[in-house]
Amino acid sequence: MATNITWHPNLTYTERSDLRKQSGATIWLTGLSASGKSTIACALEQLLLKVGVAAYRLDGDNIRFGLNKDLGFSEKDRNENIRRISEVSKLFADSCTISITSFISPYRVDRDNARALHRDGHLKFIEVFVDVPLDVAEQRDPKGLYKKAREGVIKEFTGISAPYEAPESPEIHLNTDKQSVEECAQQIFIYLKKASII
Ligand code: PPS
Repeated sequence: MATNITWHPNLTYTERSDLRKQSGATIWLTGLSASGKSTIACALEQLLLKVGVAAYRLDGDNIRFGLNKDLGFSEKDRNENIRRISEVSKLFADSCTISITSFISPYRVDRDNARALHRDGHLKFIEVFVDVPLDVAEQRDPKGLYKKAREGVIKEFTGISAPYEAPESPEIHLNTDKQSVEECAQQIFIYLKKASII
């Protein structure tokens, strides 16, 4: 625990947003492994960058190669994973960037904490439920992880031996067994336009 620290005053969000001529926000994708979070996040990032909106993707697997490489998949480690990403995505949003996070983020309390952190900073937080039936995700199994989880090789695997708590009132609900990647990315893009975030 750090002591003797003092908050250094910054430009306000509004001053920064006026100078950058862009709003910030966090688009929080949550869903099972193989639901399509990362693919949709990539497509959305490209859509935004192509129209000149600064956007940056924070991805579950990728972040675990660096910032969060000390964390595993116990409930405690997942809580810490999401706590750190909540803080990082808040910084991106505060910098007037569209931050797109793609983490399973299986616990409702962690996602609610992320939302509260953004609300405290007067920053927009859009929860996107990337919904897919478990059996469809398991059939896709692009990394062979469900198979290993069923065999007991991977412990605490979300949906098999660890919980996934679905969002109760997300801003956006996608069904990736029925919608294409492009449709999903477009749906988020249109939401951002209608909300005057972009
Ligand atoms: S979490 O729950 O939000 O902390 O997980 P996240 O940081 O998004 O990491 C999920 C990716 O890690 C791989 N993986 C596992 N997922 C779930 N449970 C277990 N036990 C596990 N072990 C490894 C997997 O590739 C996940 O990526 P996605 O893109 O979701 O399939």
